[in-house]
Amino acid sequence: MNKNFYITTPIYYPSGKPHMGHAYSSIVADIFARFKRLERYDVLFLTGTDEHGQKIQKEAKKNKKDPKIFCDEISETFRSLTKKLNLSNDDFIRTTEKRHYKSVIEIWNRLVNSGDIYLDNYSGWDSISDEAFYDEDEIEDKNGKKISKSSGSSVEWVEEESYFFKLSAWSEKLLEFYKNNQNFILPSSRKNEVERFVEKGLKDLSISRTSFTWGIPVPKNEKHVIYVWLDALTNYISALNFPDIEDKKYKEFWPADVHIIGKDILRFHAVYWPAFLLAAKLPLPKRVFGHGWILSDDKKMSKSLGNILDPIEIINKYGIDQLRYYLVKEVSLGNDGSISMENLKNCINNDLANNYGNLCQRVFSFIKKNCANKIPKSNNLHDIDNKLLENLKNNLPTLINLMNNQDLNEYIKIVVSFSFDANKYFNDSEPWAVKKKDPKRMNTILFTISQQIKNISILLNPIIPEATNKVLNSMNISKNDISIDKINDMNTLNCDKELNNLDILFTKIEDDN
Ligand code: ME8
Ligand code: MG
Repeated sequence: MNKNFYITTPIYYPSGKPHMGHAYSSIVADIFARFKRLERYDVLFLTGTDEHGQKIQKEAKKNKKDPKIFCDEISETFRSLTKKLNLSNDDFIRTTEKRHYKSVIEIWNRLVNSGDIYLDNYSGWDSISDEAFYDEDEIEDKNGKKISKSSGSSVEWVEEESYFFKLSAWSEKLLEFYKNNQNFILPSSRKNEVERFVEKGLKDLSISRTSFTWGIPVPKNEKHVIYVWLDALTNYISALNFPDIEDKKYKEFWPADVHIIGKDILRFHAVYWPAFLLAAKLPLPKRVFGHGWILSDDKKMSKSLGNILDPIEIINKYGIDQLRYYLVKEVSLGNDGSISMENLKNCINNDLANNYGNLCQRVFSFIKKNCANKIPKSNNLHDIDNKLLENLKNNLPTLINLMNNQDLNEYIKIVVSFSFDANKYFNDSEPWAVKKKDPKRMNTILFTISQQIKNISILLNPIIPEATNKVLNSMNISKNDISIDKINDMNTLNCDKELNNLDILFTKIEDDN
């Protein structure tokens, strides 16, 4: 069986500092990457920055900076965000790197050789902020200004010489591909949207610009730069050392298992990218997952509304696991979701502090006090003990399936219910009450609950890695045993060593905080 897994985030425009939306996509991708590692997959997790094009050139000029220097600075803030978010990315690609440049040139040449590129004149509507051209029926009038219906960003009329990609020739092939690969576009509501768009018939796509210079020049006609989306999408294979298709990385990891993106860039990933790859005679990615918008107080975050939530601020104040957990628990992946400080507090207090955090803390301090700080051994589990553990074990195939279908919310719901049940088990079985008259029974209860804390910690590990690693380290669980296949393996519980000290995992937030 192929045990490789390749997952990507969008590469972000370094046109301004990163915000919560960027953090969200990256955290979601990180959770899936970490889960596959727990399944002992060889994972490649890629993120990075998309640095060419008119939008960046304009922004650099506004800041009176050379575009490369401008990108160096802002790209660095995205790179440091990966640390702040505790991302486990294996690579960070910048489209201004040499490895990417040669990969884009190869793609271009392949499209030329396949007869998919021709030179003509373009006239139409251009949105700099979306880096996209729009048809007449895709724009509307607002207060005397022309804007894109889908993104709301302003457009202007342009006419210039341009190279075109014969996208129109690929409509049928794309529809056939969607039909044969029902899970290529998820969630399925988005798949329908893409199919309707392609069924209308595709127009050829302008893939070069002459009105600015910040980009990769077209081979043999350097007054043109390559369209930034053709450039950017190629990052997914540049990072695998394409064009060297004999390279180990390319061979092992292409096609990608899933591109995690926001719904704003679905068309580029689900229509243009597969069409480019088909024309270049390269395999297509297995899946594109388009998640919804993070809204702030029910509105889309925007500078003008002043409702942008800064991930760094929240992490500094509340902690990274708190932010990671909150974002994926509260926002249903695939749909738009509102976030607010009020909900964040409730989530930290109820789910993290009172539920999982409290479970670990109270069990470990009981063991410290009553069992010389060692998890007691036991091999005579009662029905009630087996029932607790088996419920989790029996749900494992479901949980794995949910994660492999990016159904993160259902996964979390089930795992949190285990934590709730474990607290209830501990209350109901009252180890403190049997301590004197039946110490063996007390030991069994503590052994069982410790086993369950270990299991829950492994399942929560992709979501809240910092806290769960503290718990697992405190229990002296070896690194190799932090794995899905070791869940419920009694032998991985360390009963010989003392528990290591565990500080408070999640501080409760008071109202005036
Ligand atoms: O589009 N809610 O870059 P970008 C959720 N460079 N996700 C959000 C969000 C929000 N409010 N705002 C942004 C680009 N995102 C291109 C991509 S890929 C080859 C090139 C996330 O900086 C979401 O993933 O505009 C969205 O698709 C992405 O950031 C857009 O980032
Ligand atoms: Mg954008």
